[in-house]
Formats: sequence, C-alpha cells, structure tokens
Amino acid sequence: TRSLTFLGLESSCDDTAAAIVRLRDDTPEILSSVVAGQTELHAPYGGVVPEIAARAHAEKLDLCVEEALSQAGIGIEDLDGIAVTAGPGLIGGVMSGVMCAKGIAAGAGLPLVGVNHLAGHALTPRLTDALAYPYLMLLVSGGHCQFLIAHGPEEFTRLGGTIDDAPGEAFDKAAKLMALPQPGGPAVEAEARSGDPKAFAFPRPLLDRPGCDMSFSGLKTALLRARDQVVAEHGGLPRAVRADLCASFQQAVADVLVEKSRRALTDYLTHAPAHPAFAVAGGVAANSAIRAGLETVSREMGVEFRAPPLRLCTDNAAMIAWAGIERFRLGARDGMNLMARPRWPL
Ligand code: KG4
Ligand code: ZN
Repeated sequence: TRSLTFLGLESSCDDTAAAIVRLRDDTPEILSSVVAGQTELHAPYGGVVPEIAARAHAEKLDLCVEEALSQAGIGIEDLDGIAVTAGPGLIGGVMSGVMCAKGIAAGAGLPLVGVNHLAGHALTPRLTDALAYPYLMLLVSGGHCQFLIAHGPEEFTRLGGTIDDAPGEAFDKAAKLMALPQPGGPAVEAEARSGDPKAFAFPRPLLDRPGCDMSFSGLKTALLRARDQVVAEHGGLPRAVRADLCASFQQAVADVLVEKSRRALTDYLTHAPAHPAFAVAGGVAANSAIRAGLETVSREMGVEFRAPPLRLCTDNAAMIAWAGIERFRLGARDGMNLMARPRWPL
C-alpha cells in the first residue's frame, strides 16, 4: 500500500495555483487546491498582460505553496515529489513556476517532474472519475480547443482542433460586441437564456469538411455584421434582439462542437476501448447548452460522458500534481535543467 504525495504548481496563464494530491491504494485524493486569480490585475487592459502576469506569479507562488501545505495539514517533509507546469504558456509565468519548483526540490531533496499543462487538463478525468485508458478528451477553454485520445500519461493522439480562435475566446469577443462584461462566456450564456437560438442563421464553419478541425473566427465576424445591421435598423441594440444574437451565437458554437465530437467519437471507437468514455475540460465546459449537446451525442454513441467539477475544469494545480504523479509512476524525473517551454504540443 504505497502512498505518493505530490505538490503541484501552475502559473502558465493568469492563475497562480498550488495543490497537494495524494495517491493511496490506487485512489487519488486532493488534499488542497489553492488558486489565486489575476482577473482584476488585467481587467484594465482587456486581456492578459504577460509581464504583469509573470510578476504576480513570482509574488504569489510561495504564498500559494504555504497555503496549500497548511490546508492539507502537511509539511514539505511529507512530500514525495514536486510537479510543475513547464509549458505551454506565457513564458514569464512558466519560468516563475519552474524556478519556484526547482528551489523547493533542491532545498528539500525531492524529485522534480515537469508537466505539460495540456496533459494536466487531459488527465483530470482520471483524478476525478478514475477513467481507464484510452478515453476521448475535448479540451475547450479560452486558449485551447482540441480533441485528444489519451492512451497513457504521456501518450496522446490529437484528432483535430481549432485552426484559429478557441471557443472561449470567441465567447469573450462576442460579449465585447454585445457590450456584456468579461469573462464573456457566462455573460453570453445568461443573455442567451431569454433569446431564440434560431433567430439568426450564423455559419457552422468547417462542418462541410471531413475531420475534427474547427474554426470560430468567422462566427465572430458574422455576429459583428448582424449586430451592425440591427443597430443600423433600430438605431441601437434592443435587449430582446441582443438575447437572440447571443442565443444564436451560442447555438452555432454548440452545433460545431457537437458535430465534431460525433466524428471524434467515431474515430475513437475504432480503438475498441473496453470502457468507452468521453470527457471535457476547460472553462467552456461550464456552458450548459454545450454540455447538454455533448452529453446527448455521447449517449447516442454508447459512450460514458464525464465533466469534472468546474474548479478542476479551469486552470488549477491539482491537475498538475496528479499528472506529475502519473508521470512519476512511469519513471519520469526531471533535473535542474528542466526548461520552461512557451510552446509544447502534446
Ligand atoms: O479554462 P479557462 O478558465 O481558462 C483558459 O482559457 O485557460 O477558460 C476560460 C474561458 C473564457 O474564455 C470564458 O469566457 C469561458 O471559458 N467560459 C465560458 C463559460 N464559462 C467560462 N464559455 C461559455 N459558456 C460559459 N458558461
Ligand atoms: Zn488551461
């Protein structure tokens, strides 16, 4: 009954996070998960400013580590290793995390494991739902949109993804066009609730092409044109029309994700998985219209659908600690030469 306790660190975008995950008798447990967001710091600039993010990570990381240890009720001496996001992401932030992890690892004489941020997201359903390999994953956030088959902790097949914007980014830009607050996803979803999803015929890009690639930038342009036309006709944007625009936009995104999921599922099922499962991760997984669509298509295809709790779908360090444990069990160890990588495809 071997037990492994890992500290995880995450600092690749605008969340500084530290977490403690323990694996005991093959059952993982999140002992603590601390996330310090930076939304207010970047709000005046309308997007994440890399230099501001890096400074904030450097300031907050050690505090988050202390907090994670204290919430878990353990000390550094109780750790078996340290996992850190080594990319992809904003390089200043990733470097802050890697330096912090190296410092603790060297000081405490602990093994260090670098983790790919995307692998962290992709391995989350094993932490929350003990999914068996191979399973299908849709990463769908403000920065990512791709289908992956997870065959093992370090073995992924990419089936396709966005060729331009990520859906979360499209929701955020849509909110800006509709004069709604950021982050745009929840605001657009709330507005869409009172709208008609069939009111505007927005495009479903790339559905006419085979494969799982997606495109969302044209959708944003279509929304801009529709809005300008409404404003020209009405001399403003009536509340009811805004709701229709939001509902129609959301429906278009959902339709594309659902149809491409159907194709990804078809491809995945050719691997003859013993326990077919499809999981989502990323902030956009919070959208109930999208989630419902993915659930329906999974059921139609006889595949178990899983969506981890939202706090584990968005950026966090528990997923990094867990991915570190999975890699560590395969024998992965990194040294003081671990590099921060701005780009690192799975
Ligand atoms: O995973 P996440 O927290 O951060 C990264 O992008 O890495 O995802 C944030 C994104 C934002 O673009 C936000 O607008 C979107 O997820 N989002 C949503 C919803 N909640 C968050 N998009 C659509 N519907 C939602 N309910
Ligand atoms: Zn992420």
